[in-house]
Amino acid sequence: MAKRIDVSGLNAYYGSFLAIEDISMSIEPRTVTAFIGPSGCGKSTFLRTLNRMHEVTPGGRVEGKVMLGDENLYGAGIDPVSVRREVGMVFQRPNPFPTMSVYDNVAAGLKLNGNFKKSELDDIVERSLKGANLWNEVKDRLNKPGSGLSGGQQQRLCIARAIAVEPNVLLMDEPCSALDPISTLAIEDLIGELKERFTIVIVTHNMQQAARVSDRTAFFNLAAVGQPGKLIEMDETERIFSNPSVQATEDYISGRFG
Ligand SMILES: Nc1ncnc2c1ncn2[C@@H]1O[C@H](COP(=O)(O)OP(=O)(O)OP(=O)(O)O)[C@@H](O)[C@H]1O
Ligand SMILES: [Mg+2]
Repeated sequence: MAKRIDVSGLNAYYGSFLAIEDISMSIEPRTVTAFIGPSGCGKSTFLRTLNRMHEVTPGGRVEGKVMLGDENLYGAGIDPVSVRREVGMVFQRPNPFPTMSVYDNVAAGLKLNGNFKKSELDDIVERSLKGANLWNEVKDRLNKPGSGLSGGQQQRLCIARAIAVEPNVLLMDEPCSALDPISTLAIEDLIGELKERFTIVIVTHNMQQAARVSDRTAFFNLAAVGQPGKLIEMDETERIFSNPSVQATEDYISGRFG
């Protein structure tokens, strides 16, 4: 079930370095939100605060609030492991578990989480691979290593793995940057389908991609190197790309900076 996200007053640090400052935003369920902005402005850092991955980095610390539905992910007694199950993540480089088969890659999270019968696992693996538009390409090689697939197939395998546990939110950090144009289009189409079931956030450096896949776009920027990244504006994607409110956004999307 997709859930809404409400972030308020969020700061994230690496040791004493304040990487992102005072971020507040709301993300509606069943929408795609794109994060754009120059390198180093904190897009990945912010994304990782949304599933409690930031604190895994030594010195990583978060202040502020992230509500997922009516639960504060940084509230007392919240288990970060269960947060990461609810808020799945897909990374820039496809990272299937190298020694595992295609099947086991998709089933990995389920096996950790509960007692499924073989027939139940079979069903979920098939459904997830279909959901990731990969089933037809791998149904005859489910027991072959996941690392033997092409880059684009591996990325869809990682998406199948992420959706197999039925998260509420799917975070994607430049998921297409290592892919060829055909695989990129396949992932973009897939994002369009997945948003019917999940709340999706995607970081991208590709302005056309942001314009193609997202409903809303958030532009992040930093005043200078060493300064914290900030959310400059967030709006309907169409508006950000046609008539943004802030000059810095206009400069960035028209390639005059960065
Ligand atoms: N593990 C880390 N330790 C210390 N500082 C870090 C670490 N990871 C990121 N930073 C710093 O935090 C700031 C934000 O980095 P982040 O990776 O979030 O930016 P980004 O917007 O995702 O950039 P890019 O577009 O290049 O991926 C940068 O100044 C970066 O150097
Ligand atoms: Mg990044």
